Amino acid sequence: MTAFVQQTDEQWFNTLIGRDRAPIFGLPDARTQRGTVGKDGEDALNDALMFWQFIRRIAAAEGKTITSSSKILDFGVSWARILRFFLRDTPAQNLYGVDVEDRFLEHARRDVPSVNYSLISPEPPLPFESNKFDIIYAFSVFSHLPQRIADGWVTEFARVLKPDGIACLTTRPRAHLRTKTELYAKAIGNPAEAEARYDRGEFVFYPLHGGGDLAESHYGEAIIPRAYVEKEWSRHLTVRGFYENYSPSYLQPCFVLKKRAT
Ligand SMILES: C[S@@+](CC[C@H](N)C(=O)[O-])C[C@H]1O[C@@H](n2cnc3c(N)ncnc32)[C@H](O)[C@@H]1O
Repeated sequence: MTAFVQQTDEQWFNTLIGRDRAPIFGLPDARTQRGTVGKDGEDALNDALMFWQFIRRIAAAEGKTITSSSKILDFGVSWARILRFFLRDTPAQNLYGVDVEDRFLEHARRDVPSVNYSLISPEPPLPFESNKFDIIYAFSVFSHLPQRIADGWVTEFARVLKPDGIACLTTRPRAHLRTKTELYAKAIGNPAEAEARYDRGEFVFYPLHGGGDLAESHYGEAIIPRAYVEKEWSRHLTVRGFYENYSPSYLQPCFVLKKRAT
């Protein structure tokens, strides 16, 4: 995408949404977009813009400024909503996307080609060698994984990250325990009890079928407190921060973890 390297973030966003001419990458049908990320069209891509900018800010602050040689993995890439943004700065051969649902990867392969996509199992391992990635990010994936599986993936990320590599993983916010959305509220049941568990540092998870191929044993609503991450995941990665308000549209809070230099 060398033709776009000089574009500002705003120009690149306009290129991706097709403000002045046809967008350079396609989008799945609106139903697929809403089914995966709750929004479609410009709104869905605007959230991706915010997260992409956040990752770049965090990477720079952690001494991992994104360049053309950065190796980046989007875990739960779906139809490459977010990964497409990285193509301004990093060539497709250094970008990787994995997902458990091939029907989403089919959209990604068609609409955002040349990137390295892999269909994976819902549980580790990843099909990559150790010490490969500078950055792994997962938007709205750890928001849905049960504790055992989330723990397993963090351990696996510690293997495939380079020393000093970073992982940015979002979860549901504490406020989600008081959601007005009927489907979720029903699954959560007793919000006061859930808040007490969260405040004690427990990993809070409610099985819920997401409408996709994954069973409730592998999918639901996960609300992960910082104390849990500090206690459990810090055995594998250093906890660098928990960012709650990094975008005007209040995207999901994000844990930033870093692999220790050896
Ligand atoms: C809510 S969607 C978010 C998609 C994408 N990250 C985005 O923000 O545009 C969650 C995605 O995670 C994928 N997913 C769920 N469980 C997974 C797992 N165990 N490993 C990898 N991907 C998973 C789903 O198939 C789906 O594409």
